Amino acid sequence: MQTRREFIAEGARAAAIAAAGPALLLEGCAHPTSIPPVLPASFHDVAGSRSLRAHAHRHGLVFGSAVIIHNVQDDPDFAELIGEQCGIVVPTGELKWIALRPAPDRYDFSRPDFLLQFARRNRMLMRGHTLCWHESVPAWIQTAENRPNTRQFFVEHITTVCKHFAGQLQSWDVVNEAILPKDGQPGGLRKSFWYEQIGPDYIDLAFRTARAADPHAKLTYNDYGVEYDNDDSAERRRLILDLLRGMQKRGVPLDAVGIQSHVKAAQPITFGKGLADYIEAIRQMGLEVYLTEMDVNEDDIATDDPVKRDAIIAQTYTDYLRVALANPAVKLVLTWDLSDRFTWLNSGPTHHRKQPNRPQRSLPFDRDYRPKDAFFSIRDSFDRRL
Ligand code: G3I
Repeated sequence: MQTRREFIAEGARAAAIAAAGPALLLEGCAHPTSIPPVLPASFHDVAGSRSLRAHAHRHGLVFGSAVIIHNVQDDPDFAELIGEQCGIVVPTGELKWIALRPAPDRYDFSRPDFLLQFARRNRMLMRGHTLCWHESVPAWIQTAENRPNTRQFFVEHITTVCKHFAGQLQSWDVVNEAILPKDGQPGGLRKSFWYEQIGPDYIDLAFRTARAADPHAKLTYNDYGVEYDNDDSAERRRLILDLLRGMQKRGVPLDAVGIQSHVKAAQPITFGKGLADYIEAIRQMGLEVYLTEMDVNEDDIATDDPVKRDAIIAQTYTDYLRVALANPAVKLVLTWDLSDRFTWLNSGPTHHRKQPNRPQRSLPFDRDYRPKDAFFSIRDSFDRRL
C-alpha cells in the first residue's frame, strides 16, 4: 500500500512532469519507459493552490472539516492533511458538555485549546460545536440534587465557555438539533433534557447568553434532515424557519443557520427546490448559511465494488453541492471528518445491520489519506460557483 508521503512525492513529480512536458520524462529519469504515459487524476497534486481550501477561497467560501482532536495530536500525517486542506476546523465532540465539563465545578479545555493553537499555526479558523444538544448531557446535571438548578448551570456553562474562547472562534453552534416533530410539542420542539428542565425559552436564553459572553462569534442554529425534496424534510424546514422567525421577532441574536448535510447515496429522491427555497428563505432573513457536517452515507449502494461506489458517492456530492452552493448566502462548507479512517458513519445507527463488513467510503480522502472521486467532485463544485 502506498503511503501518504509516497503519494505526495508522486503527486509533486506528476505535477512537475505535467508542467515541464515530455522533456523532463527523458531528462530526469533513468528508465522513462517505467512511467505511465497518462497519470491517473488522483496522482496529480492536491495540495497548495490545488487544495480544497484554496479552491473554496477563490469562490468566496471557506472549506474545512470536523476532527476528533486526538487524531490531530497523535497522527502527524493526518495533522498535515488537515493543515493542507482546511481553512476552518471544528471539534466533533470535545466542546460538548460531557467532554468539556466532567464535574459541575471542573472544565477541561485542554484539547480544544490545543486545536485552537493548531488552527492558528496553520492560519485556519475554528468554530465551536456545540453549547446545547440533547445528547452528551453529563450524568451529574441529571441527578435529583442538580436537576432543579439546570437553568443556572446552563447560563453559567454558556457564559464560561464562550468567554474562554471570546473573539477567537468564527462561529458557535449555539443550539443543535432542537426540532423533532414526533415528540408532539408546540413548534415541533424536541423534548430534550434542556426543554424539559428550562422550558421552550431555553433556545432564546442560550443565544442571548452566548452573545453577551462573546459578541464576535457568529451565532448559529444547526440542524439535520432538511436536505431532501420529501415530506419529512419539508416539515422540518418549515418548523425550523418558524423557530428562526420567532427568534428574530423577539430580538434574539442570531447570525447563521447550519445545514448538517448528512446525505445518502443511492437514494432515489434528489436535491432540488426544497433545499434551494430553504436556503433562499434564510438569506432573506439576513442570515448566513453553513454546510456544517457534510458526508455521504453509502450503506444503501448495492454494489461492493469500491470504484463504482466512489463514483456514486462523488455524484451525490456533486448533486447536493450544485443546489446548495448556488446561493451566495452559503459561506462555509465542512465535511464531518476528512478521511474515511475516522468517519462516524462506521458506528452510525444502521451501519452494522446494513453493511457489517464494508467500511464507509463517505469522505473526500480514503483511510490512507489519498484523495478519492469525492475530493474532485467537491473541488469542481467550488469551481462551478460564480
Ligand atoms: O475518543 C474516544 C476514545 O479515546 C475512546 O477510546 C472511545 C471509547 O468509547 O471513545 C472515543 O470517543 C468517542 C468520540 O465520538 C470519538 O470517536 C465517543 O465515545 C463517542 O460518543 C463520540 O461520538 C460522537 C457523537 O457525535 C457524540 O458526541 C461522534 O464522534 C460525532 O461524530 C457525533 O457528531 C454528531 C454531531 O455532534 C451532531 N450531528 C450528528 C453527528 C453524528 O452523530
